[in-house]
Order: sequence, then structure tokens, then C-alpha cells
Amino acid sequence: MVDLTPTRDDKFSFGLWTVGWQGVDVFGGPIRPPLDPVAALEQLAELGAAAVTFHDDDLLPDDATRDAGLDRFRRALNGTGLVVEMLTTNLFGDPVFKEGALTANHRDVRRHALTKVLRNVDLAAELGAKTYVLWGGREGAESGASKDVAAALDRYKEALDLLCGYVREQGYDIRFAIEPKPNEPRGDILLPTIGHALAFINELDDAERVGINPEVGHEQMAGLNYPHGVAQALWHNKLFHIDLNGQNGPRFDQDLRFGAGNLREAFWTVDVLQGVGVGRAYDGFVHFDYKPPRTEDVDGVWESAAGCMRNYLALRAKVRAFREDPEVQQALAASRVGELATPTLGPEESLADLRAGQRDPDALGERGMAFERLDQLAMDHLLGLR
Ligand code: GCO
Ligand code: MN
Ligand code: MN
Repeated sequence: MVDLTPTRDDKFSFGLWTVGWQGVDVFGGPIRPPLDPVAALEQLAELGAAAVTFHDDDLLPDDATRDAGLDRFRRALNGTGLVVEMLTTNLFGDPVFKEGALTANHRDVRRHALTKVLRNVDLAAELGAKTYVLWGGREGAESGASKDVAAALDRYKEALDLLCGYVREQGYDIRFAIEPKPNEPRGDILLPTIGHALAFINELDDAERVGINPEVGHEQMAGLNYPHGVAQALWHNKLFHIDLNGQNGPRFDQDLRFGAGNLREAFWTVDVLQGVGVGRAYDGFVHFDYKPPRTEDVDGVWESAAGCMRNYLALRAKVRAFREDPEVQQALAASRVGELATPTLGPEESLADLRAGQRDPDALGERGMAFERLDQLAMDHLLGLR
């Protein structure tokens, strides 16, 4: 049995808003008491996490208590040895953001939103966080004429260009990561998927400084293959951060603990993060953005947080065993998976040579790919049969 005890080297990280979620949803109020951020740090450290993340308002809800709250939190960071690896802004809770923040039609709302982000970027630099996430939950629309999408994208770009310029000017060691989501809370959110966000980043002045923070459930809400999206993000060198959780297909954002929901995609996600295929492993923090279900009391909260890390470590062990299994290696060869790395045209070959070559499409078409054997081996590993 592999050791499933998390260590700091595993770089597990949690949002304060995850374990601190009181269970408020559209149908009901809080079912758990508020969680003191310092108590959260202590418990997460005890469970083996390495880092935390938060929105400005999670830790510092008002200016009157800001300095004292920050001091106390800093002492707890020192005491527990946890670090703050990422910061983000709450641009969705306050009524001012009901129609958007950085892309709101109302210019003053945009100016207010940008001010809020800048203030928290300063805090990120102060606390040593190297990633700043932008999740645009309220950037979107419910109806057609209400939003000029092109103008909204211009304003999104303007905001990112200004933020990148500010970070450069201040000499902060910070990169931005856009978190796509197709809907919820808005009917349709801008930059709804990994692909939309990657294309948008190409249009920015400082595209190098901006990457993505893809969340498992968000891609699956759109019916997309999350590990494929993560592989493409790695391929573009844009996987700056990650939000791991669980989801059962296209429906509301479930934010289940990692490993719950679509377990097979969780297995392939961990596989991709190890650098399989892309040849470039993800070496950032393994961040969980989930919500302990409303059915749970405080013990259940910590059970689910521990479960996220345990499932990640278990899947990592399974993935490694799968890749090291000699029968899997034979099956991969039989499926010609490695052959895809060979360029279609030979080094000295011209397109004329290619066209002159002889191939037998009928024979090629008859050959099976043996993928079922390969996938069953993965299934056997996942089910603990090998
Ligand atoms: C969601 C989102 C949020 C963001 C967070 C960071 O579940 O709808 O993932 O949790 O990740 O607000 O900005
Ligand atoms: Mn989510
Ligand atoms: Mn998220």
C-alpha cells in the first residue's frame, strides 16, 4: 500500500473560501458556523497542506479590522509554515457587481473593480503570492442586446493590459491566471472555456504574463474533456495554476471534492499533470477549489479536505503504476501511441516525395488499434485489479 500521507512537497493548497464555505446556496442559508481563517490555517497545516489562497474579502472584509486581521493572519502563517501562493478578488458578491466588474456596462463600476483588484495585487506582492487569479463570474449576460461582447472583450483586455503594466512597473513577481467558466452565476459568462481564454490571451499586450487556471467542474459543465484541456494548456505553456474538484457532467457547478464525480477524468488529469504526452509536468501548487457539501458538519469539512489530497495521492500512485506496467507499455506500442511523436514528413523528405510514395489505404483501414485492451489495463489499475 502506498503512503497516502500528504507532505509539503506535494504542494497542496486550499482556498480559504472552500473549507470556510458555510453552505449558503440559492435555496438556503448557512448550515455551518463561520470558520476563523487562523483555525483554517492550523487545521490545513495539520492535514498536510502547504499553502492557502483567498479572495480579498475572505480574510479582510472591512477596513476597520484590516490591519489587525492581517497581522494575526501573518503570525499564523509563520506559526504553521503555510504560504500564500495565490490571491484573487471577489468581483461577484457585492451588488455593485451585479452586471459585471471589469466588463460592466457602467464605467464607474469598472473603475471601482479595477481599484479593488489593484489593492489586492499589492497585498499579493506583500504576502509573496506569485499567481493572481481572475475569475469573471459576473462578466457576462442573460440576454442578447444587453452586452456588446466585442466591447466587453476590449474592456477585459484593457483591464489585463493595465494590470500587467502595473505589476511590471512595481517590479512584482506576479503572473495572472484567467479562470474560465461557462455559466453560473451569469446565464452566459465571457471566456467560457479553456479554449476561449487561450485565444483571448494571445490578444494581450503582455501575453507572457497571463495564463489560465482551469477548474475541473467548469470544463465538464460545458461537456468538455478536462484532461485534454489541461494538456493543451500545458502545450501552450499556459497552465499557470489549477483548480481541482469533482463534477458529474453538465449540470450546476457541483464543486465536489477532488476524485468525486468523474473519477476516470480525475485519473487522466493526474496523468497529464505528471507530464505524460506533453513532456512538461505541471510543477505549480495543486489547488483544490471545492465546497464541502451542505450535508456536512465541521468534521465532514475536514474529512472532505483530507479526501481531496488522499484521492490525488492515490491517483498519482495509480497513474505511475499504470505507466510503469510492462504490459501497458506493450499495449501502448500495439496502439502506436508513441508513433504520433514522429513527424508526418521525414527530415529530408519533400511534399513531392510524400505524394510519390506508395501506401495501401485498404490495409491501413483494416487494422485495429487495440485501444480497448489499453483502456482496460487503465481500468484495471484504477479498480485496483493490477
Ligand atoms: C466557482 C469558481 C470560484 C473561483 C474563485 C477564485 O466555483 O465558481 O471556481 O470558486 O475559483 O472565486 O476566483
Ligand atoms: Mn466551481
Ligand atoms: Mn475555481
